[in-house]
Amino acid sequence: MIEVDLSNVWGQITLPKLLAMEKEVFDAHMALSEGTEENGDYLGWMKLPVREATEEMQRICKAAQKIRTDSEVCVVVGIGGSCVGSRAAIELLQGPNRNIGKGKGDPQIFFAGNSLSTRHWNELMGLLEGKDFSVIVISKSGTTTECAIAFRGLRWMLERKYGTDEANARIYAVTDPCQGALRQMAEAARWETFMIPRNVGGRFSVLTAVGLLPMAVAGIDILEVMNGAMDAKESYDLRSYENPVWLYAAVRNLLYRSGKGIEIFESFEPGFRVMGSWWQQLFAQSEGKNGKGIFPATAELTADLHAIGQLVQQGERNLFETMVRFAPPEAQHVIGSDWNDLDGLNYLEGKTLDFVEEQAFQGALTAHVDGQVPVITMDCGALNARTVGELFYFLELACSISAYILGVNPFDQPGVKFYKQNMFALLGKPGYENSGR
Ligand code: PA5
Repeated sequence: MIEVDLSNVWGQITLPKLLAMEKEVFDAHMALSEGTEENGDYLGWMKLPVREATEEMQRICKAAQKIRTDSEVCVVVGIGGSCVGSRAAIELLQGPNRNIGKGKGDPQIFFAGNSLSTRHWNELMGLLEGKDFSVIVISKSGTTTECAIAFRGLRWMLERKYGTDEANARIYAVTDPCQGALRQMAEAARWETFMIPRNVGGRFSVLTAVGLLPMAVAGIDILEVMNGAMDAKESYDLRSYENPVWLYAAVRNLLYRSGKGIEIFESFEPGFRVMGSWWQQLFAQSEGKNGKGIFPATAELTADLHAIGQLVQQGERNLFETMVRFAPPEAQHVIGSDWNDLDGLNYLEGKTLDFVEEQAFQGALTAHVDGQVPVITMDCGALNARTVGELFYFLELACSISAYILGVNPFDQPGVKFYKQNMFALLGKPGYENSGR
């Protein structure tokens, strides 16, 4: 079970205030478990965790195995909720440099369709030069501009390289079960398809084929991920403050009410960076509406202590931190002795790197708390596929409960359309001639 430690927030909030909030948290949880008129069509994510592989998961593993066998590179096309979850899991479990030295049997995985950068596109073209590759295209709506442009280019590359039939056998589409341009294209060309259930929104879709197919291609045990999510579903159904999800959701709202409008979500693992982005999207899109919302920022420690540490320590007192911790790995690095000690490090001789990290954590914690920055710590235990599944579900549940406490609907994103309308009008997209400003 993920442990939420509140011992470093009490300077800013009080136990009576937390206890007084219990009914609000209970009601928020009930709105999810019972469903409401407004959220009934968006709660599919709560039913995704399983103990046994479903038929869809078996197809995912089979497709992933084919990609691993016939491709040196797998390109995952998607943006936002359609790519960041799988990327987060892969980077957290396999490290930011996992692609180096990979090829057939365990392909490199690149992400595309998540920007409009020509430089990024040109770089991808270079990386694909002379390589056997497959494409997983992920879009619930099937019409997202960034993905559609990238996918059109990649599809044509596949057709030129392999001919139409082989190209079609190397394309995997993850999309709406019945509608949208991608669904129509997939059916016409008979690509292997996987479904994003209608009642699962983009940022809650990591435990569907959206997240699971790229994870399986990376060699991650997706049944373990799902079992971790199931552990979370069962453990975090508690209706009391013994539930760490309740503690996290309640305390971040109390801190917000006391003027802390920014949350920094951070870890000492460099591989956690994209998990931070996934959390950021989940909370920003779910909570940032009706003039409300905690700004979700992320940091990577210790690197960012050298970058934003000054502001955290002594800047405006409008922030709090959530530190996510994992148990140390078995293989430890021990600091050696140097005969002339010119770097002055012999005082650490025989100590592990992990020991030094622990002191950095304690040091930063105390300094920030002394500087009036409340720190929530989240202890996740060993870092493995099961933990990652548990963390995904924990945060989805916490985010939904937190949004209801905040008084907003976690499952819509009415603000996102405005930039699109302007962009489409400028691009001359049919139907948007008069939409822009
Ligand atoms: O959370 C969301 O809904 C978004 O981030 C979407 O996932 C993102 O815009 C991609 O949408 P689609 O899957 O329709 O291409």
